[in-house]
Amino acid sequence: MESLVARIKQDGTVLGEDILKVDSFLTHQVDPKLMREIGRVFAEKFKTAGLTKIVTIEASGNVPAAYVAEELGIPMIFAKKAKNVTMTDDLLTADVYSFTKKVTSTIQISQKFLSEQDKVLVIDDFLANGQAALGLISILKTAGCEVAGVGIVIEKSFQTGRALVEETGIPVFSLARVAGFDQGQVVFREADL
Ligand code: G4P
Ligand code: NA
Ligand code: NA
Repeated sequence: MESLVARIKQDGTVLGEDILKVDSFLTHQVDPKLMREIGRVFAEKFKTAGLTKIVTIEASGNVPAAYVAEELGIPMIFAKKAKNVTMTDDLLTADVYSFTKKVTSTIQISQKFLSEQDKVLVIDDFLANGQAALGLISILKTAGCEVAGVGIVIEKSFQTGRALVEETGIPVFSLARVAGFDQGQVVFREADL
């Protein structure tokens, strides 16, 4: 997605060895116009796939996921990271280890929102080590859903996430693929969409 790559080049900043900061348009402040375009690109790709739900993980996955769901006219579900007092239904859970934060968190989705009739596209803002995506896939498999793919806004191709997701047999569709960083500049490789 050329406009996304251009925006990363313009406004993204590199932090340390392996972090790309995009808080001016994606992970903190949000550019709705760019998000709408992201929604449209994924919707165009999946418009005939028979998707019934978009699934993501809070917090910043919610933003692109909601725009994709809106374009396709289907619900978006976000996995929660903390148990809420109102979550009295049966929960599907997965433990997700964050290499960045070095903590394991349990993510959860109420069982009532997923069934064997669902065909799901997973959406997330970043794909790094893939642990969040694998946790979501585990929950979706437990619910008996068909997983059509994992749609990513920014993939860090120098980390293990993509390979780990593809090992499950589920395809990855990334709008921007970062090959690495060179003296504070982002180096891209060819994207999927
Ligand atoms: P993984 O799920 O792919 O294994 O990712 P990892 O544990 O390494 O990442 C932990 C958190 O950091 C995730 O957000 C992920 O989206 C985010 N992240 C990973 N790499 C980058 C990066 O280069 N730039 C930015 N901006 N974020 C990155 P989170 O903590 O799960 O959620 P959120 O509440 O921030 O959305
Ligand atoms: Na994030
Ligand atoms: Na995320």
